Amino acid sequence: MDKILYIANWKSHKTTDETKQFLDRLKERISSVNLADKQIIIAPSYTQLAECRRFIGDNNVQISLAAQNVSAYPQGAYTGEVNAGQLKEFVEYVIVGHSERRKYFNEEESDIENKIREATEAGIKVIQCIQDQNSIIHKGIEIVAYEPPSAIGSGNPDDPQHVIEVFKSIKEHRPEAILLYGGSVNPETISRYREILDLKGFLIGGASLDADSFISLLS
Ligand code: PGA
Repeated sequence: MDKILYIANWKSHKTTDETKQFLDRLKERISSVNLADKQIIIAPSYTQLAECRRFIGDNNVQISLAAQNVSAYPQGAYTGEVNAGQLKEFVEYVIVGHSERRKYFNEEESDIENKIREATEAGIKVIQCIQDQNSIIHKGIEIVAYEPPSAIGSGNPDDPQHVIEVFKSIKEHRPEAILLYGGSVNPETISRYREILDLKGFLIGGASLDADSFISLLS
């Protein structure tokens, strides 16, 4: 059975104390979730990766980690960057091409391409975000998250019918792609998407910050 991916994209949130609180609450409640058909992936800030890794090891829970970014360069003299080889110690996945990185950090297709190459060479699976059906899906990408910028953080998720159309158009040229939806997914809106045939998971921002809210998405 294909597992549905629930990816918690914490963006630039959470101190160590806040991360611990989230994980403690998740631990209390996770036994109520049937994980046979679900894969939980947490994408914290770099500073919380070690804390999350330790929690997963100590509690033997089925949670994977993703990085929210990766350097476009290999190891070397690139002050402030975290390279794919360093991330591989902590994560199985990385998110690349998010519209916030395009908007605030001027990321372009060539940067995204370099990040994908670095991650892939290090053995990290890439979750590539796309903004619409005309966005470029780079070579070798298996997991594609469709995230229309107008739906992100707005409380105004995309019309499920439109998501179906976008997925159909992606499948025409990338039939093997694992397709996710993201943009204002929360406990109220998630049920609108569950019936979409090709949907294999969700990228969740705001509603993933609170453990109870995140757990309710998994129920
Ligand atoms: P949101 O963010 O759930 O807060 O809309 C989704 C995302 O940007 O990944």
